[in-house]
Amino acid sequence: MENKCCGDWNFRGSHAAREASTAHLGFYSSKILAQCDFEKTIYPPLGEPALAHDVAENAVVQAVQNGRGNAYAPSIGLPAAKKAVAEYLNRDLPKKLAPEDVFMTVGCKQAIELAVDLLAKPKANVLIPSPGWPWEVARCIYQKLEIRNHTFLPEKNFEIDFESVRKHADKHTFAIFIINPHNPHGNTYSRAHLNDLANLAKELGIMVVSDEVYRWTVFGNNPFVPMATFSDIVPVMTLGSISKGWCLPGWRTGWLALHDLDGVFKCTEVVSAAKEFLGITSKPPTVIQEAIPTILNETPKSFFDTRQSYLRDNAELAYSRLDDIPSLKCDFKPEACTFLWTKLILEKFRDINNDLDFCKMLAREENLVVLPGINQQSHQLPTININA
Ligand SMILES: Cc1ncc(COP(=O)(O)O)c(C=O)c1O
Repeated sequence: MENKCCGDWNFRGSHAAREASTAHLGFYSSKILAQCDFEKTIYPPLGEPALAHDVAENAVVQAVQNGRGNAYAPSIGLPAAKKAVAEYLNRDLPKKLAPEDVFMTVGCKQAIELAVDLLAKPKANVLIPSPGWPWEVARCIYQKLEIRNHTFLPEKNFEIDFESVRKHADKHTFAIFIINPHNPHGNTYSRAHLNDLANLAKELGIMVVSDEVYRWTVFGNNPFVPMATFSDIVPVMTLGSISKGWCLPGWRTGWLALHDLDGVFKCTEVVSAAKEFLGITSKPPTVIQEAIPTILNETPKSFFDTRQSYLRDNAELAYSRLDDIPSLKCDFKPEACTFLWTKLILEKFRDINNDLDFCKMLAREENLVVLPGINQQSHQLPTININA
């Protein structure tokens, strides 16, 4: 029966984002948080630490005081910010980016949305990591793109399983999305592995979209290698932001960089599509874009070193403590990122049927929040935050 208060009004909320919103991390974390007692301390503390370095704070103050951050920025980004990001990424690249190859976005999230939106077309499909961070999943659902999951090889330190890539790719596949360093596994891919991936993607005729937002949180022995190192083999899109490395998630500033192979992105109209999509969406605040050159160039190395050793210590501590918890098993001690990925041994419990039950009960009984694997497309795999 029609709800009375809906009456004869001509409007209704759209259901267009309903299915996509269930893939989003917040859908599950809000269910878990709802179990907590907000009168008491919730562990770990809510939200991510925002630890702005003085360099970043002063750069924004200056941008405010000199008035250069007050106007609208061009939709593709402020020229000085684009140039600074290009030069920053070029430090590690053999094939250099020009400022016009960089598009400023509202955090890495908007860069992910942009990557999906500007490539989406009817009947197309895309290879997405499982497990992975689910923002591109939500966006693909919203865009009605078919998602095909590629998986990983636990016995090879969670490298990408190329067989799963081959199995799922067909002539309608346009890209493989990767996360490097990988959230939630916490590993970084070797140069040889990325080289092989580039060759496989070339063979399949698809591009590689590499979310590298965690590249500044590497604390293990394997160094980070940018996917764009191989942009002479395959076209690469790199996604990044100042959220994780500079600990400034609230400043909502990121980028998408097109590492083009011989003008492929231009002739396939990816470049013009990027400009068109950014023309009809929001931009990161001009005042932060104005501060980007200083933030990228002048934040001291010690800031990153301190953060990495903090994460290393937390990862060690959490990993060693798991020895005392027979119901949780961790197959891989993380070398990067801010999570520890575990396996739930369900047989050890009487009244718990899955990861979500476990996380809810832990929140209810201990005010302790861990995230269920279900929001990373994997059941029975809770993730522990090592960032707090
Ligand atoms: C793999 C990955 N990419 C992107 C993001 C979001 O980045 P941003 O805050 O810059 O939008 C996250 C957030 O947790 C993430 O885990």
